[in-house]
Amino acid sequence: MFHWLEKNPFAFALGVFITIAFAGLVEIVPNFAESARPLVGTTPYSTLELAGRHVYINNSCNACHSQLIRPFKSETDRYGHYSLSGEYAFDRPFLWGSKRTGPDLLRVGNYRTTDWHEHHMKDPAGVVPGSIMPAYKWMYKNETDIDTAYAEQLTVASFFKTPYTFTKDIGTENARMIPMKDGSTTYIEMGDTLEDAKRLALAEAKLIVADMKDEDVKDAVSKGKIPEIVAIIAYMNSLK
Ligand code: HEC
Repeated sequence: MFHWLEKNPFAFALGVFITIAFAGLVEIVPNFAESARPLVGTTPYSTLELAGRHVYINNSCNACHSQLIRPFKSETDRYGHYSLSGEYAFDRPFLWGSKRTGPDLLRVGNYRTTDWHEHHMKDPAGVVPGSIMPAYKWMYKNETDIDTAYAEQLTVASFFKTPYTFTKDIGTENARMIPMKDGSTTYIEMGDTLEDAKRLALAEAKLIVADMKDEDVKDAVSKGKIPEIVAIIAYMNSLK
């Protein structure tokens, strides 16, 4: 039926162009829709959570774990509500992943706790018999890179208008208020300086180590250092 097209390279090229352009539009246009805006209740990552996200990327957790729940019963029964595009508004880049050697982690914060992660990351098979996930022992010693997390916050706040509120702007009209599901609004604080960012991250780290048992990690945080394990747990807990 389409032999004439194969014999006519110009028409063929035009046909290919139109088909691909149409397919491109179908992919692109919905991203401008309301549903692709940040979902109500979706907030940008705090400094410590963002640092934890960097630990996740540096250790290639996304090579084995997806963060994308498909709209199938088998998935929603196990992981919770299927993913909505507005949930990824502050993920740069998104970490959907393409392989599930381990389970999906998009909502892991709903069913795993700080205490559980603390043991699992040190010795996965000790918590889940037969687990093939590697142990990440160095995370209990390596210090978290807050500088890079703060640099990313500054970048996305100015370039992508991610709604962070500088400490100095809290309570003023410059505060970037974010709508929440219960009708209230909140803000996500970002330090005015790197020193401030470190102070905020440490305060958040202290809340997390309160639920941890590792004495070395607790000791490090009490001395003002944040081991990577604390940051990755902050990030895991934020995935909901
Ligand atoms: C080689 C593949 C692999 C890599 C890399 C990997 N994991 Fe896993 N992960 C698994 C497997 C398999 C499981 C399921 C068994 C278990 O719970 O240990 C799992 C389970 C988990 C769970 C429990 C999820 C649940 O719903 O029970 C968490 C949390 C997790 N991994 C976090 C991480 C983090 C964070 C990293 C990166 C630092 C990481 N994983 C890297 C394979 C991997």
